[in-house]
Amino acid sequence: MTWNPRQYLRYGDQRLRPALELLARIPLEAPAGIVDLGCGPGNVTPYLQARWPEARLTGVDSSAEMLEAAGAALPGAAWIQADAAAWRPETPPDLIYANASLHWLDDHAALFPRLFGLLAPGGVLAVQMPRNFQAPSHTEMRALAANGPWRDRLAPLLRPDPVAAPAFYWDLLRPLGAAVDIWETEYLQGLRGEDAVLQWMLGTSLKPLADALPPDQRALFLERLGARLALAYPRRNDGLTLYPFRRLFLVAGQDRL
Ligand SMILES: C[S@@+](CC[C@H](N)C(=O)[O-])C[C@H]1O[C@@H](n2cnc3c(N)ncnc32)[C@H](O)[C@@H]1O
Repeated sequence: MTWNPRQYLRYGDQRLRPALELLARIPLEAPAGIVDLGCGPGNVTPYLQARWPEARLTGVDSSAEMLEAAGAALPGAAWIQADAAAWRPETPPDLIYANASLHWLDDHAALFPRLFGLLAPGGVLAVQMPRNFQAPSHTEMRALAANGPWRDRLAPLLRPDPVAAPAFYWDLLRPLGAAVDIWETEYLQGLRGEDAVLQWMLGTSLKPLADALPPDQRALFLERLGARLALAYPRRNDGLTLYPFRRLFLVAGQDRL
């Protein structure tokens, strides 16, 4: 998948808030090495740097476009292009911080224990992932993709629910000796602009589908999806579109949290 940092950052404020709420719950005083895993355009990395200015910061992402934007935003950090599923740090980090990235990876049953095992003694794994894959935005997107002239192209790209229930992560990490703090928050997001939910989704989950279509099918697909989304999430008289969005947060420490 290719990413478009500009489209992703279109609703940057709403995307930043959960990142900061995750950051606020990390109980580390002075981590020496921090990895921003799935760092995207480096939009959150400066907040990690601001909290721990002495730390060695590394951003890891599979997307060249995102890393290019990240390198421009924060040249002092190290930026590494790698697949998080296989990535291994040269030095065990004290903090692996993964905001809005790990839901792009499959097989969490293997991934989460592996990441936890990469930490230095006393380290922390901090993760935030959307858990709204049963929301109308996503059910409408999948239903439309599976029915229409684009079905053969899009069906292979449709992923089953990538994020499990909170207890699944608890049961994965507690047996490893982790102190685990897990919670969920549903944000009632008031999005500005026309076709706001469609535009939000074009920054993330909808992009791989839109990219897979030739221009004429792409236009028709987006028009039909936009119409369905406008019914599910009507724009209000004040110009805002309310888009409830649930997110799962997880902080797993090797010591007591
Ligand atoms: C929604 S962005 C999140 C960016 C940033 N962390 C934030 O908080 O806004 C998801 C990022 O995960 C990255 N990503 C997806 N799959 C990945 C993988 N297998 N390995 C590394 N990065 C991945 C994408 O390239 C993208 O930059």
